[in-house]
Amino acid sequence: MTRSDKVRSFVPDPQNGRLLRDAFGRFATGVTVVTAASPDGCVSITANSFSSVSMDPPLVLWSPAVHSARYPAFAQAEHFAIHVLAADQAELAWAVARDRGAVMARDHDVNEEGVPVLRRCLARFDCRQHAMHEAGDHVIVVGRVLRATISDGDPLAFFGGRVATLAIN
Ligand SMILES: Cc1cc2nc3c(=O)[nH]c(=O)nc-3n(C[C@H](O)[C@H](O)[C@H](O)COP(=O)(O)O)c2cc1C
Repeated sequence: MTRSDKVRSFVPDPQNGRLLRDAFGRFATGVTVVTAASPDGCVSITANSFSSVSMDPPLVLWSPAVHSARYPAFAQAEHFAIHVLAADQAELAWAVARDRGAVMARDHDVNEEGVPVLRRCLARFDCRQHAMHEAGDHVIVVGRVLRATISDGDPLAFFGGRVATLAIN
């Protein structure tokens, strides 16, 4: 890959949203699928805004967009589950990004709180909503981790709007 020395500097404004999106996209992340039960059935969403937050108490966060059609379901959900995807789950990530019901259409279980959960992922955090903080066009949802699962495998990564695999030696 050739790299350019050119540095672009800008002040974020409504006209250069693409640049800000690209700058945010320079931060490589993992990919998660968040699920919750809702009165209209299961809702799922692909999210790369996940972060661990606190060990004691055990807290994590993710950020749904307030303009997302799925936002009301997640805002109202007392419980939700966050699944960290493995390298071979890119198709699932895109399917859930397109379709809020994609998890229900596949093999899944239901956890003790009634939340639909994937059978396979690198890690799963079953959460109770702990706090919600307004943050511009997103909301920061903080979850208290009630239980977690962990498996071995390579992670699915997200960088520059594309998913990639990362081999960890
Ligand atoms: C890799 C990836 C990461 C994403 N991360 C988030 C996120 O953190 N928060 C969010 O609200 N949407 C995120 N999205 C978008 C949603 O998964 C979904 O495509 C969007 O909510 C669809 O719009 P709708 O909810 O109005 O149907 C992400 C999509 C992809 C592919």
